[in-house]
Amino acid sequence: MIVKKAEHVITAVKPNQYPSTGYPEIAFVGRSNVGKSSIINTLVNRKSLARVGGTPGKTRQINFYNVNDTFYLVDLPGYGFANVSKEMKASWENIIETYLYSRKENNLKLIVLLVDIRHSPSKDDITMNQWIRGFGLNTLIIATKADKISKSQINLRINDIKKVLQLSNTDKVLPFSSEKRIGIEAVWSEIDEKLRK
Ligand code: GTP
Ligand code: MG
Repeated sequence: MIVKKAEHVITAVKPNQYPSTGYPEIAFVGRSNVGKSSIINTLVNRKSLARVGGTPGKTRQINFYNVNDTFYLVDLPGYGFANVSKEMKASWENIIETYLYSRKENNLKLIVLLVDIRHSPSKDDITMNQWIRGFGLNTLIIATKADKISKSQINLRINDIKKVLQLSNTDKVLPFSSEKRIGIEAVWSEIDEKLRK
């Protein structure tokens, strides 16, 4: 993918705030701090288009990024952040759920679920994976922060993630690192394929 243009379009909470251009969307979900905003920056080759944070819970609303005036990369709020009130948690879950319900039939071409390569997927990750597959959505799993482990560990960790998420042999889990720029081509190729359909 040659990125000629990447710009933040809107920070939204409700569907009436989502863009209405009808461009296809590729959305990123996953635990807080897993690297959703970072992967967007890395894919479009921009340092701080999406806000990256040391403190989990940096992205609390939905951010839409226009790429080449042809599609959106969508940064969803992270889940599983321990230090929030019940109300806050419910509000984030509601934001994610509302987005998926309103976009699943048309705009949403692929949902990318990010998990940290170092850890087995959490209960929330397992629930999210089952839930998005239950919607019949195209799903891609990405194992982030691959720079944090040795190369020889990568396949072992990928297999563990596949096992815990009960994926079939044909389901892909792609290792990725925003830090070391690992896996960029492979992710773009998955996105490209879904955009062409
Ligand atoms: P929320 O917005 O809170 O949901 O988090 P997020 O999923 O958007 O994570 P974000 O991209 O803000 O990254 C969280 C932290 O992880 C930041 O300190 C990043 O610098 C770091 N990080 C992200 N990707 C990588 C990576 O590939 N390698 C390493 N080593 N650190 C990373
Ligand atoms: Mg974020």
